[in-house]
Amino acid sequence: MNQQPIIQTADLRKIYGMGDIAVAALDGVSVRIDPGEFVSIMGPSGSGKSTLMNILGCLDRPTEGQYILAGEDVSNLDKEQLAAIRNRKLGFIFQSYNLLSRTTALKNVMLPLLYDQDNHRSNEEREEMARAALASVGLADRVNHQPNELSGGQKQRVAIARALINNPALLLADEPTGNLDSKSSYEIMDLLHDLHDRGNTIVMVTHEPDIAKHTQRVICVRDGQVESDGRDGANNCAQPGAGD
Ligand SMILES: Nc1ncnc2c1ncn2[C@@H]1O[C@H](COP(=O)(O)OP(=O)(O)OP(=O)(O)O)[C@@H](O)[C@H]1O
Ligand SMILES: [Mg+2]
Repeated sequence: MNQQPIIQTADLRKIYGMGDIAVAALDGVSVRIDPGEFVSIMGPSGSGKSTLMNILGCLDRPTEGQYILAGEDVSNLDKEQLAAIRNRKLGFIFQSYNLLSRTTALKNVMLPLLYDQDNHRSNEEREEMARAALASVGLADRVNHQPNELSGGQKQRVAIARALINNPALLLADEPTGNLDSKSSYEIMDLLHDLHDRGNTIVMVTHEPDIAKHTQRVICVRDGQVESDGRDGANNCAQPGAGD
């Protein structure tokens, strides 16, 4: 089978600063992620995980190397072009939810539809889509609640509904369970599994081996390079320096 990858990078480098203080946050990262994969990115603090996620999420550009996202070379796009790609192809889930306060769950989920310039949906259609997205994460009965009226796990569900609203090619999650207790964490992981089963491609950064073990594949990053990549990564990456 010759399917087109969702993510294909070739020798990505990201250099911060210049001269003596230059830091290679990424030092030659080549990864391929296919449609329908559920992947964790792990690694010690400072290893380059966020730098990699920012590039994969089209929030930043590599200093060198190539990034092809769902068939489109995005390595050299400008800020506006990257923003358009983010809106069309990507859904983001953050550790701290990033919801607008004093704004209902429904309106939070509708937001990405309002930014999308070229669609001509009516407000009723947008609202219908947002209701359906909230129902799909089990929050049909919370559409009119504001973030401060929701639990942490429920806030993250709203954020997931928002991430899904544009039917993205790729979901990027940066420590999605980082602020949650273990019960809510497992509920969010169940939901991500569900989304994966429904065909979504998910890339997630996590510090927690228990969480990474939920995914099919773990990419372990160290010193800006891919140290290991495979099913067993959570164990290899779990305790840097400690014996395996
Ligand atoms: N804007 C910046 N300017 C200079 N150096 C930076 C910048 N952002 C990151 N770095 C450096 O790049 C390296 C990788 O940072 P990055 O944030 O990607 O690590 P990380 O793996 O996400 O770490 P953590 O687990 O602590 O979040 C670090 O050495 C960091 O100090
Ligand atoms: Mg980070």
